[in-house]
Amino acid sequence: MKAAVLHALGDPDNVRVDERPDPAPGPDEAVVRLRAAALNHRDAWIRRGLYAGITLPVVLGSDGAGTVAAVGDGVDRALVGAAVVINPSLEWGDDERAQGPKWRILGLPEDGTHAEQVKVPASSLFPKPPELSWEEAAAIPLAGLTAYRALVSRAGVRQGERVLVTGIGGGVATFALAIAKSFGARVFVTSGTEAKLARARALGADGGANYTDDDWTKQIVAMTEGGPDLVVDSAGGTTFAKLLEIVRPGGRVVTYGATTGSPSTIEIRRLFWKQAALVGSTMGTPREFAAMLALYGDGGLRPVVDRIFPLADIAAAHRRMDSAGQFGKIVIGI
Ligand SMILES: NC(=O)c1ccc[n+]([C@@H]2O[C@H](COP(=O)([O-])OP(=O)(O)OC[C@H]3O[C@@H](n4cnc5c(N)ncnc54)[C@H](OP(=O)(O)O)[C@@H]3O)[C@@H](O)[C@H]2O)c1
Repeated sequence: MKAAVLHALGDPDNVRVDERPDPAPGPDEAVVRLRAAALNHRDAWIRRGLYAGITLPVVLGSDGAGTVAAVGDGVDRALVGAAVVINPSLEWGDDERAQGPKWRILGLPEDGTHAEQVKVPASSLFPKPPELSWEEAAAIPLAGLTAYRALVSRAGVRQGERVLVTGIGGGVATFALAIAKSFGARVFVTSGTEAKLARARALGADGGANYTDDDWTKQIVAMTEGGPDLVVDSAGGTTFAKLLEIVRPGGRVVTYGATTGSPSTIEIRRLFWKQAALVGSTMGTPREFAAMLALYGDGGLRPVVDRIFPLADIAAAHRRMDSAGQFGKIVIGI
């Protein structure tokens, strides 16, 4: 099979399409012949060496959709030929509250989806919603799951709440916007570019501010009439302290990332005085994956696809991620 292999850390050109042996399923595993895959920030960070425990060469990629090509012992043979979406949150464990010791993300240490075929635990396969194209289905898994758990399970988004999603150009953020809207929230966003704020409004955002403006927090407080009830953030860094300033008393701030680093301080007085909750969230459970996928199937939501690159142009896809020029998901057609 052809696969996009990361040979050395660093530049996007270190990811090259090579011939690799076809994977063979072991017990309780399946091999999926991929039709489309997608990129996440994680893939770029692994490539740049910003992850612990990287072993090379490796095939990156957590998101994928395709048809089941083969199954191992213990897996129902009727699954062969089925159209599936892969849940990249592998072997979560028995506790809904947090992932167990076997939990891992597809695409390091195990070879991922930027390839013609991938081997995964059969428990990670979910029926592809027929309403979605292959490219749409592949755009959803990691980002959709992360946004769903953060917003719905961890922060308990409710109808009519004012939700702030920071950095709306991000892959997860565009899912958070759509999912929050589907729960009846009013959604406000931030972005570093006016064009992305306009795109977000076209997708249903109720307002937005440019985080490069000195007074962006004032703008958000004004448009949310006193501050958001719920903030969903993955920027971290210096932005994070400001989120605790603007969240409404009794509100919650949910974090799932630290794109701009860890905040140097957290003003805990603000947190306890405001009766505010600070919540962490990572990926999600199989139950959450199924619930999220249903929103995108007959629930009618659609992922925002930025661009589709052929597998042969994988380095260009990485360059697009590095440039932060994307709005929504960078997809790989296979
Ligand atoms: N814990 C988990 O399970 C999990 C899962 C997925 C991702 N993550 C993490 O979440 C982060 C986002 O992932 P992604 O794949 O969605 O990345 P991405 O598509 O590359 O998005 C990153 C976005 O961050 C925004 N940003 C940058 N500086 C900002 C600032 N100062 N204030 C507000 N926003 C800012 C930018 O938004 P604009 O373009 O609009 O300016 C950019 O598009 C990454 O750190 C990733 O590692 C964690």
